[in-house]
Amino acid sequence: MSIRLGDIAPDFKAETTEGTINFHEWLGNSWGMLFSHPADYTPVCTTELGRTAQLKSEFEKRNVKVLAVSVDGLESHKGWVKDIEETQNTTVDFPIIADEDKTVANLYDMIHPNANDTLTVRSVFIIGPDKKVKLTLTYPASTGRNFHELLRVIDSLQLTANYSVATPADWKDGEDTVVSPAIATEDIPAKFPKGHRVVKPYLRYTPQPNK
Ligand code: BEZ
Repeated sequence: MSIRLGDIAPDFKAETTEGTINFHEWLGNSWGMLFSHPADYTPVCTTELGRTAQLKSEFEKRNVKVLAVSVDGLESHKGWVKDIEETQNTTVDFPIIADEDKTVANLYDMIHPNANDTLTVRSVFIIGPDKKVKLTLTYPASTGRNFHELLRVIDSLQLTANYSVATPADWKDGEDTVVSPAIATEDIPAKFPKGHRVVKPYLRYTPQPNK
């Protein structure tokens, strides 16, 4: 069964490169990013896990714990991590699940048999502190993800969870936001004292409220 936005992220217990993890307990009050890749010792995956490690402080700043999944075993992961660290000039200090029996892959529908019947695709699940799924993404094996885009999405998710705004196309942290359609135009000045501009009755911009 596929996982939809707003669903509670399925809980699981898994062996990882940093020991056994009970997913919900491990998340605690943090946000989470669970992401799968097809296989160890492959080029795109090596760059993806390297980039995630390089962006450690950016994930930490946003209170996001990252957890990678692949269906390879623990010994394979441990050997591969050394290669990632050497080739991507970084230290991998987030856990990688050894999902050999595909428990997590099946729970999160990460194997798409018409793409490949044994390997996980590049899935991403962003999970909020309430354990609900806030974002899902699926990329094919041949296309590495843009981890700056994932950080941008997290910025939007965290902002819009706390303010009655949405973020327009290509928005980046610090740029103007749009006022939620649920807010009447006459109520905007009280709610958004930094100002606003009405382009159309349904298209109202306001400076990012938490900046
Ligand atoms: C890669 O990570 O480079 C990769 C993995 C599986 C299929 C194709 C590419």
